[in-house]
Amino acid sequence: MTGRQWRAIIDIGVLVSGSGSNLQALIDTPDLGAEIRVVVADRPGIKALGRAQQAGIPTFVLPWGEFGSRSEFSTAVADSVEEAGAKVMVLAGFMRILGSEAVRRFPDRILNIHPSLLPAFPGANAVAQALAHGVKVTGVTIHLVDEEVDHGPIIAQRAVPVLPDDDVAALHARIQVQEHDLYPRVVRAFLAGEVTVVDGEVIWR
Ligand code: GRF
Repeated sequence: MTGRQWRAIIDIGVLVSGSGSNLQALIDTPDLGAEIRVVVADRPGIKALGRAQQAGIPTFVLPWGEFGSRSEFSTAVADSVEEAGAKVMVLAGFMRILGSEAVRRFPDRILNIHPSLLPAFPGANAVAQALAHGVKVTGVTIHLVDEEVDHGPIIAQRAVPVLPDDDVAALHARIQVQEHDLYPRVVRAFLAGEVTVVDGEVIWR
């Protein structure tokens, strides 16, 4: 073997529910270190699916309403990512809670991005919650997904100041600028093995 160490390529599946601007940021990162094998959506007709198709990435739509339970939905999501040959799930604006059927099959291998500095403002409407509370600083969190909502070990955060005249749209737009820069960096580091999780603790090396 030469000086270069052999490393298995760990490909990813990206889960989306909306505009897909974070998906686009990942697509536009040339040195991500992995292929996006599949984009999985919980609804048809969203902009994110068009972005995937434009980039030649296979898509899979699993309409939430067609499943009898969270458990069946989560199993179908995990199946579709696994069958596409991906080993890591990257949630990019995915608006469904994944049940243990998916989380246990991808232990410490599901990443999520959330538009607040967790543990502040978990759940939907994080940007509106931050404004309503009058915080002066909010931001972005990238974390591993566990079985609780917006809860798993935190990998990276970036602060975004709240400006006096901010409304939800203006503040979210500034948060998204940071998301699009931070998420590809973190995904690349994670796939390169620079981020590991030991007993629930995130270690960067
Ligand atoms: C992002 O702000 C992300 O933090 C949140 O949902 C939004 C998705 O945006 N989870 P997009 O679909 O990537 O444009």
